[in-house]
Amino acid sequence: MSEITITLTLNGESREGRALPAQTAVSFLRDVMGQKSVKEGCGIGECGACTIIFNGKAVNSCLMPAAQLNGAVVETTEGLEKNGQPHPLQEAFVKHNAIQCGYCSPGFMMNAKALLDHSPSPSREEVTKALAGNICRCTGYQQIVDAVMDASEVMRKGAAS
Ligand code: FES
Ligand code: FES
Repeated sequence: MSEITITLTLNGESREGRALPAQTAVSFLRDVMGQKSVKEGCGIGECGACTIIFNGKAVNSCLMPAAQLNGAVVETTEGLEKNGQPHPLQEAFVKHNAIQCGYCSPGFMMNAKALLDHSPSPSREEVTKALAGNICRCTGYQQIVDAVMDASEVMRKGAAS
């Protein structure tokens, strides 16, 4: 099978890579683009471990053909840190013990970031609803929602200062 060329904006940088026609976006991002934070869990759109931000929206990359990434603007957890400073979501996940094995964490963070990008002051219910498609097998969901609420406050204060 002949490969296809994919050009995308990944975490703010223009990148190019070759994908097999049947390759999924999660496989392309991990194996070709080196985005090891993007995890494949269920592979059928039910766990959220593979969540990326695709043209501003949180999506499951296990269900997406790599070809769909061509021309897209994509964010992964690798792009959260800026100038050596962790993102408020990363800090809050650590502060609230919202990470245990960490397998699910990048997916939760991408979903949370997509929410906060569009809705900087979400209610607890909105956060819970936004994260409903992400499964965690070891940390309580309470700590994860606490972390997102905390990060939203830190981000609002940062934006206001
Ligand atoms: Fe994509 Fe589970 S691996 S939703
Ligand atoms: Fe282990 Fe969520 S921290 S699956």
